[in-house]
Amino acid sequence: MASAPGKAILFGEHAVVYGHPAVALAIGMRTRVTVRPTDEPGVTLDGGRLRRRRHPHVARIVDHLWDRDLDPGIDISIEGDLPSGAGLGSSAALAVAVAGALRAARGRWVTEGGSSLDASTWLEGHASDGREPALFEQASAPAPHAPGPGRTLLRGAASISLDEASLLAHVAEAASQRGRASPIDSATSAFGQTLLISDQREPDAAWMLTRRMPTEDGERAWDLHRLPPPAWEEGLALVIGSTGVHGSTSDLVAGVARRRRSDPSIDQALSAIGALVRRGIAALSAGDAETLGHAMSENHLLLRHIGVSSPELEDLVAAAGPTSLGAKLTGAGGGGCMMALTRDAAATSAAIEAAGGTTWTSPLGVEGLRLE
Ligand code: MEV
Repeated sequence: MASAPGKAILFGEHAVVYGHPAVALAIGMRTRVTVRPTDEPGVTLDGGRLRRRRHPHVARIVDHLWDRDLDPGIDISIEGDLPSGAGLGSSAALAVAVAGALRAARGRWVTEGGSSLDASTWLEGHASDGREPALFEQASAPAPHAPGPGRTLLRGAASISLDEASLLAHVAEAASQRGRASPIDSATSAFGQTLLISDQREPDAAWMLTRRMPTEDGERAWDLHRLPPPAWEEGLALVIGSTGVHGSTSDLVAGVARRRRSDPSIDQALSAIGALVRRGIAALSAGDAETLGHAMSENHLLLRHIGVSSPELEDLVAAAGPTSLGAKLTGAGGGGCMMALTRDAAATSAAIEAAGGTTWTSPLGVEGLRLE
């Protein structure tokens, strides 16, 4: 069994699709995926057929990590407390958890003394710098899966690579978002904690890797960094409020792409989001709660301008206003969730609930993919 967390985007959703910076935190709600051996060959989901249309993310990851004809039969089951379709990254968390569970179940062949942390020692796996993930079968090809001198099979947790899981989940996200997906959801779910994603290496953050993806607008590259845990003052909290309305990420991302073509102010707003994310990051590391809150509210206005807010989100953001330092929609929008930075979590939660929302004050910046 592997589990992976959802995410909340503090700044920069939508703009990150076009390379602008964004910051996301892993949240304390997780999706858990269990893989059990079955007597019959093939792959089932909860004992039934794995339907590609209903579970595109699961099917895609299975395509990459399990050979339905050659590998033993398995059943995959999904549970957890991360609500789906709420803008909290449930599809990425599902893909990451499936990738972790399948990799742990099949293990990974490496050269002797190799490790899942060092792709140059893998005899099989998916590397992060390809376009579509390239299956590693190097060094001792043509039979890297067979036991032999100089080869070791890593099993369970030792075989897992967060990079591989986040890459496969990103590819699955891109496929379901018609080619337009940043790695923000998949990377935050796999690596956990607080991540900064940008089109350049940022001086004040710990660079991890570069992720490339071909898109309609040419190849995009995102640099992934870790940020230190936010320097929250005592009593400061982020309250997440759900509208209960489902927003389709792929439709919302496609809507922004369409409006960009006819309205030049959309690109200006996306660049403005990028500029204020940098201000927000400085406030985050300085522990300047007021500036952070302002930047969140400004980010919300720009998201509204690009057309991804909704009446329900506006109600919840307005309700949070009087008791919070700032509030914005989080994730793709069109419904889904908002979040507010507050020194009075109880009052802000009560105000959001009174306006029709459901709230969580989930722990933030938690661990990413793990084997349970
Ligand atoms: C969705 O959680 C975040 C978006 O920016 C889409 C993406 O980055 O792929 C709206």
